[in-house]
Amino acid sequence: AKVSIIGAGNVGRTLSQRLIERNLADVCLLDIVEGLPQGIALDLTEAQGLQSHHCEIMGTNNYVDTKDSDIVVITAGVARKPGMSRDDLLKINAKIVTEATQKSLYYSPNAIYLIVTNPLDVMTYLVWKTSDLPYDRVMGMAGVLDSARLETFIAFELGVSIHDVQGMVLGGHGDLMLPIPRYCTVSGIPITELLSPETIDKLIQRTRDGGAEIVRLLKTGSAYFAPASSACYMIESILFNQSRLLTAAAYVQGEYGLNDLFLGVPCRVGSNGVEQILEIKLTTEEREILQRSARSVRDSIDIALS
Ligand code: NAI
Repeated sequence: AKVSIIGAGNVGRTLSQRLIERNLADVCLLDIVEGLPQGIALDLTEAQGLQSHHCEIMGTNNYVDTKDSDIVVITAGVARKPGMSRDDLLKINAKIVTEATQKSLYYSPNAIYLIVTNPLDVMTYLVWKTSDLPYDRVMGMAGVLDSARLETFIAFELGVSIHDVQGMVLGGHGDLMLPIPRYCTVSGIPITELLSPETIDKLIQRTRDGGAEIVRLLKTGSAYFAPASSACYMIESILFNQSRLLTAAAYVQGEYGLNDLFLGVPCRVGSNGVEQILEIKLTTEEREILQRSARSVRDSIDIALS
């Protein structure tokens, strides 16, 4: 299998490493900065004998090398700089992401497109909207990461193995996320049976601020190890048709009362992309939070397209 990763920044390069060193796919890593993807690819290749894997990685500045990819991952973008408004950033990343998609599509029209660039739900919609891609072959990564963060904090709090914890976070990425405690479990037991409402609220707040907490600690840049693992998890389910049930930003057509939008919903993900969206029972309040997420994403889409 072949995975092309557009953007050789922290997330792109870490994801490359995860994919090849776990023998999941050959990787083509592309960036606009000359030498950068080539240098990373050479460095990773020189580690190949030591890591004992058989996958290849190439670095490039030319989209022709991405030809015939099974999956294209878009991680290209710029970070917000001083003096740049959120809307400026939105427009810049919208341009980068839609151009990267157009160019990738030319060489890999049948690939599945996995979007990572923020603002996630908006970028995923733009990729679909500005391409001829079927909606089920486009998805965004956010819910897997947000769930993984919540799972980590639940495991810390209870002093149990992370492997026994299942988190459920729907909705938009960042402030718009909708964690659902009664569907978060430890070995099948809902956390609502194990933790007080105050403690659960505290863990949810830390999850909501999860990205910011890492930014504050790192001082330069944002999280990339867990984001790369999250993208890798989704890619594995696609490449090996694992039909994992996970939260992806997927195109909704009436599910949860939402329309014409990409938002984090429970999906079955396999070799055909988003193969099914599951509608689980939500409370009125939860549905309202989803609607609020949807309105915010819609507003940003309008700004990006204006
Ligand atoms: P980074 O700044 O380290 O890397 C971005 C890379 O994109 C740079 O190497 C840059 O040269 C490249 N790039 C810029 N314009 C390009 C173009 N037109 N064509 C090709 N490459 C181009 O950023 P990092 O940390 O890797 O994050 C990437 C994106 O992923 C950001 O938008 C970030 O906010 C987002 N992100 C999303 C997460 C999620 O949960 N969805 C989690 C973590 C990051």
